Amino acid sequence: MPPGTELSDRLVVTGAGGQVGRELLRLAPTARAYTRSRLDITDPAAVESVLRPGDIVVNCAAYTAVDGAESDPDAAFAGNATGPAVLASACTGAGARLIHLSTDYVFPGTAITPYEPGDPTGPATVYGRSKLAGERAVRENCPDSHIVRTAWVYRGAGSDFVATMRRLEQERDTVNVVTDQVGSPTYAADLAAGLLELAGRPEAPTVLHATNSGRASWFEVARAVFAGIGADPDRVRPCTSAEFPRPAPRPAFSVLSGTAWRGAGLTPLRPWESALTEALTRTAR
Ligand SMILES: NC(=O)c1ccc[n+]([C@@H]2O[C@H](COP(=O)([O-])OP(=O)(O)OC[C@H]3O[C@@H](n4cnc5c(N)ncnc54)[C@H](OP(=O)(O)O)[C@@H]3O)[C@@H](O)[C@H]2O)c1
Repeated sequence: MPPGTELSDRLVVTGAGGQVGRELLRLAPTARAYTRSRLDITDPAAVESVLRPGDIVVNCAAYTAVDGAESDPDAAFAGNATGPAVLASACTGAGARLIHLSTDYVFPGTAITPYEPGDPTGPATVYGRSKLAGERAVRENCPDSHIVRTAWVYRGAGSDFVATMRRLEQERDTVNVVTDQVGSPTYAADLAAGLLELAGRPEAPTVLHATNSGRASWFEVARAVFAGIGADPDRVRPCTSAEFPRPAPRPAFSVLSGTAWRGAGLTPLRPWESALTEALTRTAR
């Protein structure tokens, strides 16, 4: 790396058009950003052509259609396993570091205490299996890498959960939301800030968990969205996952422990409630 080069000038963001990618670029606008149309991470020659020694690649590219993966495993494994393998090998070849995002879906989702990075994995879905294969490929092909598992990510825009609740609040008198799935809603902007901090901390452990702190059911999150926009939270009604069958079963318990993140001296992500308040304020503008 040439002397005087800023960290953000060494950053490369793949999957830059997604939720986390966009927030990274908002915080680090001089990063080299690659949306899918500019760089397909499954294309080795294309990936190799953009990497330079000293780069820090944050891989936000992924196949994230959890239900779609059940009927199209090839697409899921291409984006979530082959792509990360290609990136990892190319990073090692170029002398670059890789920060790779992964998910709570690598766990079975049946725990009752927060998952630690070293806990046994056991994905229950194609999406989870493809992400776990990606983690393994990154670890095998790029020693200078971090795997950051996160969960329940939203920006408050598009079709994410928070934006969907805002829309339904306008469209319906009441909304049924599940009480039997618990996790930590994670504001993409907070996650992006954490990833940038990690970019400056090469000595941090290889596998880390990063979510906003605290936990809630989707029902509680929906009520918080309603309350946050001045609507009556009692218009959100409780229901169970059995009432909403989906192709991919959803984990009952998605809470990831932030102990390793804090132990590495990284700044804990704030409680989910205050992050949600900021997200609602920002998207209301
Ligand atoms: N969203 C969540 O709740 C959540 C929870 C836990 C973990 N994660 C993980 O966090 C990371 C970021 O998620 P996100 O919510 O930002 O996802 P996202 O909004 O779906 O963004 C993913 C981006 O990757 C792109 N992409 C897909 N295949 C690609 C390829 N082969 N080459 C290059 N780009 C490709 C997608 O482009 P197209 O849209 O054109 O396909 C999309 O722009 C992922 O690793 C995901 O598994 C997300």
